[in-house]
Amino acid sequence: MRCYEIHQFTPDLTANMRLTERPDPVPDAHDVLVRMRAASLNFRDYLTIVGEYNPRYRLPLIPLSDGAGEVVAVGAAVSEFKPGDRVVGLFAPDWQAGEGTVSMLRNTLGGPQDGTLSELRNFPEHGLLKIPDWMSFTEAASLPCAALTAWSALFTQGNLQSGDTILLLGTGGVSIAALQFARTAGARIIITSSSDAKLERARELGAHETINYVDRPNWSREVRKVTGMRGVDMVIEVGGAGTLEHSLKSVRPFGQVSLIGILAGREEPVNLIPILMQNVRVQGVIVGHRQSFEQMLRAIDMHSIRPVIDRVFPFEESAEALAYLRDGKHFGKICIEFN
Ligand SMILES: NC(=O)c1ccc[n+]([C@@H]2O[C@H](COP(=O)([O-])OP(=O)(O)OC[C@H]3O[C@@H](n4cnc5c(N)ncnc54)[C@H](OP(=O)(O)O)[C@@H]3O)[C@@H](O)[C@H]2O)c1
Repeated sequence: MRCYEIHQFTPDLTANMRLTERPDPVPDAHDVLVRMRAASLNFRDYLTIVGEYNPRYRLPLIPLSDGAGEVVAVGAAVSEFKPGDRVVGLFAPDWQAGEGTVSMLRNTLGGPQDGTLSELRNFPEHGLLKIPDWMSFTEAASLPCAALTAWSALFTQGNLQSGDTILLLGTGGVSIAALQFARTAGARIIITSSSDAKLERARELGAHETINYVDRPNWSREVRKVTGMRGVDMVIEVGGAGTLEHSLKSVRPFGQVSLIGILAGREEPVNLIPILMQNVRVQGVIVGHRQSFEQMLRAIDMHSIRPVIDRVFPFEESAEALAYLRDGKHFGKICIEFN
């Protein structure tokens, strides 16, 4: 089988992503062998490949956490899957429900485990879910990391209610999935972007208020204005150090800031006073468990939510796809299709 391997951590994407051959995997008793049909990119994959996520990951490593495909063979002890089933992989396969242990949270695809940028992959039976018939492999491949993180922030680790107001930062994979879920939950949605064209697309998807964070560097002031100075109930905080101060100014007392990403930096002094004086709940979110994924899939099926895919690259152009992700021109998800 063909797969990509990371051989060295360097910012040069074409130098560190090597297309190579490995022997076809053979399923053990509890394994399910999947012919991968699509994968999707997350910002974490870019950070991993350039060595900024975890430079201690053992190399060579097959990158990418997210993928979907078709079962081609199953081990003797497998009961849930059969050849021909259409499936999607879990980001953290051992985390099935509830509070994950350190090893459950760490044992993830695309580092330290080999990832999905591979024509064939063995999954443990408990690391796969079936996908609805109407959903394409590419749509399913867009879900395991970004969409599940959005779902966990809103519903598993948060308590989004109809009538709540939510603030989404930027128009990447996590924020756009959150927009779609929050819309079906009856929330009022405020979203920021560096691009007016992207904000227009967000409005078409159901955003109620849009703010260009480049034109309005004090965007929290705009958020407070459009909420009648009340502030939002929840912030999906994907910017990190560069946006946290404004997120804290945007949230209402007793509201929640879901800390998810570091697109705008990972270290910065933080003024803790607004957190304690306003009783703000700052909730870290790391993707999610199988039970949440199952619930998310049921909601996606019920509401016929079609994941927003900006662009699809062929497998052979995976390095170009990563460069496209790095440049941040996308809206929603970037995917890769296998021949
Ligand atoms: N904790 C977790 O479990 C988890 C899971 C998934 C992702 N993440 C993290 O969450 C972040 C987002 O992930 P993603 O997959 O959605 O990334 P992505 O698809 O690469 O999102 C990129 C977009 O983020 C927006 N952005 C960049 N800087 C911004 C800023 N200063 N303010 C507001 N928006 C900004 C830009 O939107 P515009 O072009 O519209 O300006 C950019 O296009 C990343 O840091 C990722 O590592 C964490």
